[in-house]
Amino acid sequence: AIDKKVDALLARMSLAEKFGQLEMAGPDGPNGTPGPQLLANAKAGRLGSVLDLVGVDNINAAQRAALQSRLHIPLIFSLDVIHGYRTIFPVPLAEASSWDLGAITRDEAVSAREATADGIKWTFNPMVDIARDPRWGRVVEGAGEDPYLGSAVAAAKVAGYQGGDYSKPDKLAATVKHFAAYGAPVAGREYNTVDMSTQQLLNDYLPPYRAAVGAGVASVMSSFNSLNGVPASANSYLLQHILRGMWDFKGAVVSDYQAIQELVEFGFAANERDAARLALTAGVDIEMAVQVPSLNSTYANFGPQLVRSGQLSVGEVDSDVRHVLRLKYLAGVFDHPFTDPARVQREELTPANLAAARTTADESIVMLRNENALPLATSSGSIAVVGPLADDAADQLGPNVPIGQNDVAEAHTVTVLQGVKNAVPSATVSYAQGCDATCTSTSGFAAAVAAAEKADRTVVVLGEPASYSGEASSRSRIDLPGKQLALVQAIAATGKPYVVVLMNGRPLTIGWLAAHAPGLLEAWYPGTEGGNAVADVLFGAVNPSGKLPMSFPRDVGQIPIFYNELPTGRPADPNNKYTSKYLDVPNSPQYVFGYGLSYTDFAYSNLRLSAPSIGTHDTVTVHVDVRNTGSRAGADVAQLYLHDQVASILQPVRKLVGFQRVRLAAGQTRTLTFRIGPDQLGFYDNSGHFVLEPGGFDLYAGDSSSADLHGTLTLR
Ligand code: IFM
Repeated sequence: AIDKKVDALLARMSLAEKFGQLEMAGPDGPNGTPGPQLLANAKAGRLGSVLDLVGVDNINAAQRAALQSRLHIPLIFSLDVIHGYRTIFPVPLAEASSWDLGAITRDEAVSAREATADGIKWTFNPMVDIARDPRWGRVVEGAGEDPYLGSAVAAAKVAGYQGGDYSKPDKLAATVKHFAAYGAPVAGREYNTVDMSTQQLLNDYLPPYRAAVGAGVASVMSSFNSLNGVPASANSYLLQHILRGMWDFKGAVVSDYQAIQELVEFGFAANERDAARLALTAGVDIEMAVQVPSLNSTYANFGPQLVRSGQLSVGEVDSDVRHVLRLKYLAGVFDHPFTDPARVQREELTPANLAAARTTADESIVMLRNENALPLATSSGSIAVVGPLADDAADQLGPNVPIGQNDVAEAHTVTVLQGVKNAVPSATVSYAQGCDATCTSTSGFAAAVAAAEKADRTVVVLGEPASYSGEASSRSRIDLPGKQLALVQAIAATGKPYVVVLMNGRPLTIGWLAAHAPGLLEAWYPGTEGGNAVADVLFGAVNPSGKLPMSFPRDVGQIPIFYNELPTGRPADPNNKYTSKYLDVPNSPQYVFGYGLSYTDFAYSNLRLSAPSIGTHDTVTVHVDVRNTGSRAGADVAQLYLHDQVASILQPVRKLVGFQRVRLAAGQTRTLTFRIGPDQLGFYDNSGHFVLEPGGFDLYAGDSSSADLHGTLTLR
């Protein structure tokens, strides 16, 4: 039915109106309001979508203008809603540390409700770029290094934003980004070249985008990077062969910001007209560009000329316009173009939304080390809370708080200082910042040390300023900024009990803390309720259960570092110099993928298969017993890894093929069931064919990528 409506509308559109639907522009008025150009373009039918316009009144005003256009086609309003709209959830890398797909879906549903209450109907998320290089600042926005976990998280996010039907007023159309392989820039430097083999692309980098497409994602954003010499925004191998061909994607493709103009800077297009032709021909439907002072996109400026000169067919333009109109019908903006302003009050920052943010933050905190220091006593007495991130709402929220929402989000944020006070109201809590997050000066150290000296126990909150993560935030060194290490060392030198909480957007090199901190929590940027969640774990109200979605290197020289690497012919051998290793640092990371401690212990046993060998169309069931051997209840993430022993294309030393979050009472045992079939046993070869090769496979079960409970399977 939607296709018929789209065709009927398309038949009535002029070429100018068609190109209008491919235009996206931002607010041009004072303080982010819709200014005269935006309103005039909307009225003239020369604008299809708007980005970064927020506030229900602004949005309704722009929509009123669009509905005055000849064909009354509504606008769709888009924004980066990444980890919450007003209720800010833990950053995506933290959400992934929870390995809790239900929580992730629930949280994106909350984000959808809050954002749509303000008139936003289209988000540029989930970001699913696999990232193996923590120097890259955008690792914070994704689910880490693993294609299997990344795919599961991608699908869970699409389900949360869109539900089964994103025309519903409280659902958002989602965008999977950045297509493709944006997470693999050379040297971790933002916007840099990506060059990789077909097998690596298809086996390791594309699965999460594909999972989002499989989950029905409304749109795809083409990435800034080039891939194997061709910019993604003009890459017909990606946009046609893979996306439309192999994956049968029917939604809309939007470029990244000004990425089409950048085809000229790349040296791929001779000029902007050529850039428009290349992007339109490759299949980018919507150009994300700016409006200074009027529409300044290559499509607006050159699209109609390209058709008139025969360099672009009307059929090609129609196909783009169809995708845009379809997006708008599916998102319900034809039926419900306006948003009821009363929803904001009703739906944003509700107790239920905040409770969801706290639960996810609880689950996403990873305990990295505990020398009997945690949980801290809840008895009265004195607690010092020190460090640059102990009481800084903006940094605690992390990057990607949506445009215009910072003030309200910060005002609702519970910092660690407040969280500690809430958790132990009978204690005397003192606070000293020590230094700000860049920590260039030691002038505040003495006060922090004095606070620690006077207190029974000290919580030191360290990490990166929020501005060190996100877009255009690559770092060449990923240690604690400035003199933060000296701050914690000064506190350690007091000899008084202390623990460390980290807030950061990427794995850091923290060798000293890993060797010396009596207790060490990775809280990432935990969001609005982060301070309460950190206190939940510090004082034992919550048993930590987060697991790392990215390896922590010991040293930047090990980067890229990831668990699912390919084998070498000369595996590291300490007794043989001519093997694959460093002279100055072990090959292993500081903390492996999937790692995270608990206040209890779990034991895995009895890995058994429903059959020792299967055919290429079969599925095998794997059972594993997991037992809580400690004395308190807790949750663990059971992980199953697979290794293909011999293959025509080298296969990873191990790869994740299943996981389950399981909560067990003290002493309780549960039998978990995993299924393995062709999807897990096969792989893409360098011609892009998916192949299944008979032979032996190793299976490993446990609660990190170092899992050692072993079994074998044969594929006949
Ligand atoms: O969605 C983002 C993208 O991730 C990076 N460039 C800008 C876009 C719109 O804000």
